[in-house]
Amino acid sequence: MDKFLIEGGRRLEGSVEISGAKNAALPELAASLLTSEALRLSNVPRVHDISTMARLLAHMKVAVTLPPAPDAVVLRAGTVTSAEAPYELVKTMRASILVLGPLLARSGYARVSLPGGCAIGARPVDLHIKALEQMGAEITTAHGYIEAHAKKLHGAHIVFEKITVTGTENLLMAAALADGESVLENAAREPEIVDLAELLTKMGARIHFEKDDGTGPSVIRVHGVTSLHGAEHRVIPDRIEAGTMLVAGAITGGELALTHCEPRHLDAVIAKLIESGADIRPEGPGGLRVRGMQQPRPADVATEEYPGFPTDMQAQYMALATQASGASVLTETIFENRFLHASEMTRMGANIAIDGRRAVVRGPSRLMGAKVLASDLRASASLVLAGLVAEGETLIDRVYHIDRGYEGIEKKLCAVGARIRRMR
Ligand code: EPZ
Repeated sequence: MDKFLIEGGRRLEGSVEISGAKNAALPELAASLLTSEALRLSNVPRVHDISTMARLLAHMKVAVTLPPAPDAVVLRAGTVTSAEAPYELVKTMRASILVLGPLLARSGYARVSLPGGCAIGARPVDLHIKALEQMGAEITTAHGYIEAHAKKLHGAHIVFEKITVTGTENLLMAAALADGESVLENAAREPEIVDLAELLTKMGARIHFEKDDGTGPSVIRVHGVTSLHGAEHRVIPDRIEAGTMLVAGAITGGELALTHCEPRHLDAVIAKLIESGADIRPEGPGGLRVRGMQQPRPADVATEEYPGFPTDMQAQYMALATQASGASVLTETIFENRFLHASEMTRMGANIAIDGRRAVVRGPSRLMGAKVLASDLRASASLVLAGLVAEGETLIDRVYHIDRGYEGIEKKLCAVGARIRRMR
């Protein structure tokens, strides 16, 4: 298992290019199942979750080719012969559930392993199943698998009890080919949803955002069509990678220019980092410049669905909060167990008290390098950030977690002054 050896105490300075968004590319890869024509996606990040999804689709006989362009992928689901997502693949990536809606819509049958929970929570998929049943699917769960049949899905008025990102994505793809009109209420409004809808529209889907108060759709109306055609699409930039790099600049008191990002998707993160004392300004199209403070200020944060402060940035922000001059209260409202990084940071010298969904971080703490263990994707990123400011060397084990969602993070950070060595 790969490890990162980080030598801390170095100020970061320079320019970082942000990759395409993993959480936009994953549903968009799955959308290839909706048509027999070719789908060409560009700006696809080279991260492990993407190769897992590509392997899963290839298992279903989707032709997946990586053309010469380094960040492009072409998919063609000529005929979907195997509508099964096996446990061996699904257990490594919960987002495999995203093939359920498209398979049902395209071939009327799907057998998808139930994604287990993961480090950050139980992460059920009951809302996906309930909504697909409303569209006429007959679904049973047995022996760890979801088995779904639907001669033809029909439109339905779906009100999600909870806002679910992949639930909204699954139903958007299913509704695109259903008979009649569907309304998705209390839908997720993340930029990744809007990007998927843009791709589906290019493929011929008829999707309308209603009650869009400018921060993305909370009601989505879909008129089903009989078939969808191929398309080309550039995946949006990864707002969480960008947020992570903003924290890297802030926490080291450095100065970073981010390129190829979408500042509009980061309003809540930028506002919070400015509140903590960082200087962040837009810089040209798709650019942001961050200047860190020697002494960040404490600032409370509660995670919320978009456009609120993203849960996927909570761990990274906690690393910064350990350096702030005072107490910051972090409240995690989305997942029930997303503070696993706190115990590892405490071992490095942080002062963090966890009480259920609340973490009180008291700073500034002088972090010392230590051997630490990554537990999930964003926790790993927060340990890298802590290692950047810790005195001495930090050895992070199980960095396969970070490789799932960050494209060459150590290369990008070393290019702006960090000292990180990947050890096999
Ligand atoms: C997506 O996960 C992201 N993953 C996650 O990013 C992200 O943390 C999460 O949305 C929240 O923003 C991808 O897009 C691939 P949810 P998802 O369904 O869709 C509950 C990362 O780091 N729920 O929006 O699985 C659920 O338990 C990953 O890149 C149900 O109860 O999250 C959670 O408490 C981690 N029943 C809440 O809703 C359901 O059927 C939000 O979950 C579905 C969800």
